[in-house]
Amino acid sequence: MGRPMKARPRLLVLPLAALLLAAALPAAPLTVGFSQIGAESGWRTANTESIKSEAAKRGITLRFSDAQQKQENQIKALRSFIAQGVDVIAFSPVVETGWEPVLREIKQAGIPVILTDRSVAVSDPSLYASFIGSDFVEEGRRAGRWLAQRTGGKAVIAELVGTPGSAPAIDRKKGFEEILAANPGMRIVRSQSGDFTRAKGKEVMEAFLKSPDGRNLTALFAHNDDMALGAIQAIEEAGLRPGKDILIVSIDGVRGAFTAMAAGRLNCTVECNPLIGPQLFDLAAAAAAGRPVPHRVPVAEGVYDESQAAAALPSRRY
Ligand code: AHR
Repeated sequence: MGRPMKARPRLLVLPLAALLLAAALPAAPLTVGFSQIGAESGWRTANTESIKSEAAKRGITLRFSDAQQKQENQIKALRSFIAQGVDVIAFSPVVETGWEPVLREIKQAGIPVILTDRSVAVSDPSLYASFIGSDFVEEGRRAGRWLAQRTGGKAVIAELVGTPGSAPAIDRKKGFEEILAANPGMRIVRSQSGDFTRAKGKEVMEAFLKSPDGRNLTALFAHNDDMALGAIQAIEEAGLRPGKDILIVSIDGVRGAFTAMAAGRLNCTVECNPLIGPQLFDLAAAAAAGRPVPHRVPVAEGVYDESQAAAALPSRRY
C-alpha cells in the first residue's frame, strides 16, 4: 500500500521540473530548409543574400540548397528537408507546375511551407501556408503602361521572355499584353526566352536584330534587367543606340539598371523587390509556432525611369 503514496509526488515533481527548466532555457532555434532556384540574375543574388543574412541575424539554422535552375534538384532538396525534420520549408519554385506530389508529402510530415518570390499552380491551396512575393501581372502592366505613355501608343516591340514555365515569365507577359490589347498601335513582332540571364539576353537580342524585323524595332520589353543589360550590348554592337533608337523597359530595379538609365542606355525599370528575408522569417516563426499566417503576402514596389535614375542610384540596396 505504501508504494503508490511514494510514486505520486514524483509524478507531480517531474513535469514541474521540466516546465521550470524549459522556461529557463532559451527557445530552440528555428531550423528552416530553403531551396533557391539558382544564381541566374543580380536580382536572385540579392534575394539569396537577404535570406542568408536575415537568418544569421536571427540565429535561425538555415539549410540552404541551390537548385541550379532545375526543378528535379528542388524536389530532391525538399525531400531531404523532410528527412532532416526541419521546422519550416521555404522555396522559390523555378516553374509553376509539378509540385503537388512533393507538397503533399511535406503536408503529411506536418511541416509548414512558405513560398517565396514565385508561386505554384496547385488545385489545393492548403498545400502551402503562405506565399510572399511580387504581383508579376501588375509588373507587366506597369511596363506596358510606361511604354504606351512614352510612345503615344505606337511601338514595334521585341520581347525577351523569362524562364519558360516560370510564374514571372507567364504573368509579366500576360500583364504587358493586357496593355497592348488596349493600344492597337503597339505590337510584339519578336518574342523569345532569354532565360533571365544576361548572356542569353544578348544572344537572343542579336538574333532579333538580324531577323527581317530587326531594323524596324522601336522598343524592347525585357522580363528582367539582366536580359536588358545583355540586349543593350547587342544593340550597341549592331551600331544602334539603346535607349534612343530602341526604347527599353525591363523589370527588377537592380543597381546595374539604374547605372544604365543614368547613362541613357535603358529607359525604365519596374521594381521587383528581392529583399524579403525579414518578412520570410517573420512568417516562418509564426507558422512554426502554429499561429495563423496570411496566405498571400504582397511586396511593395515602384517604377523608375531615366529622369529619376541618378538621384535614386546611391540609395539602391541591390
Ligand atoms: O522571380 C523573380 C525573377 O527571377 C526576377 O525578375 C529575375 O531577375 C529572376 O531571375
